[in-house]
Amino acid sequence: MNLEIIPTGAALAAEVRGLDLSQPVDDATFAVIEQAYDEYGVLFFRDQRITPEQHVAFTRRFGEIELNIFGERWSVPGCPEIVVVSNITEDGKPIGVRRAGENWHSDMCYTARPPRGTILYAIETPELHGLPLGDTEFASAAAAWDALPESMRRHIDGRHAVFDFTGRKRSFQPTREEIERNPPVRHPIVRTHPKTGRKCLYVMRDDCTGIEGIAAEDAEVLICALADHIVKPQFIYRHHWRPGDLLMWDNCTVQHRAIQDYNLPLRRKMYRTTMGGAVPV
Ligand code: SIN
Repeated sequence: MNLEIIPTGAALAAEVRGLDLSQPVDDATFAVIEQAYDEYGVLFFRDQRITPEQHVAFTRRFGEIELNIFGERWSVPGCPEIVVVSNITEDGKPIGVRRAGENWHSDMCYTARPPRGTILYAIETPELHGLPLGDTEFASAAAAWDALPESMRRHIDGRHAVFDFTGRKRSFQPTREEIERNPPVRHPIVRTHPKTGRKCLYVMRDDCTGIEGIAAEDAEVLICALADHIVKPQFIYRHHWRPGDLLMWDNCTVQHRAIQDYNLPLRRKMYRTTMGGAVPV
């Protein structure tokens, strides 16, 4: 196989060509993929035809799989590791989580060990007369850190924010038990990528409800300014989905949002797996 890693030219993201993910990935090939993933933050593979089992097996190459709150409601039958993200309704019931991730975020930042990454596989994607809809945007929080003035870096490095599950309006109504299972946690607002050592901002509007050592009003101003900085156009890659795309992102250096510019009868159906993570440093 002739493996190629092709950078998109944006601040993050590369395409991987020459790999059929329905076949086992040998260790040498996996090492190239993992290194590119750590470096580019987003990797995508076009024209894949994989089963749920192959999707799960590929995710496992990156370590344990995280079973998340969506999976308890909307997973692929017989495959609790895969969450269905979709706007489709069957027999009057949604087949997956709708409007997932429509605001900028990093997955499950409200947990003590946020996931290393997420893998999304496109089954059906909306388009109108050839115009792709339902894109996902990705922002490099590492490039955003690199671009900060030194005085801001000194002001925020070493500080911790409170991340609160109840801070953000979610695409479903969490139960009391789910809220109790996810008490507020504290994370550094400047994280270091565990593999590359690259620094990045880890701040999201709504999820971050305060910064330790900074008065509430000032903290809110800072959180909003940093959250807006991360998503400036120069730090963004926008993915136009095609069925058969498998795309993975790093939840340390990358934030993302799903663009909700389509409605039924335009259908979008994605299968998502989540990698286990570690305590952010
Ligand atoms: C998500 O935030 O996981 C959803 C991303 C998408 O559907 O594009």
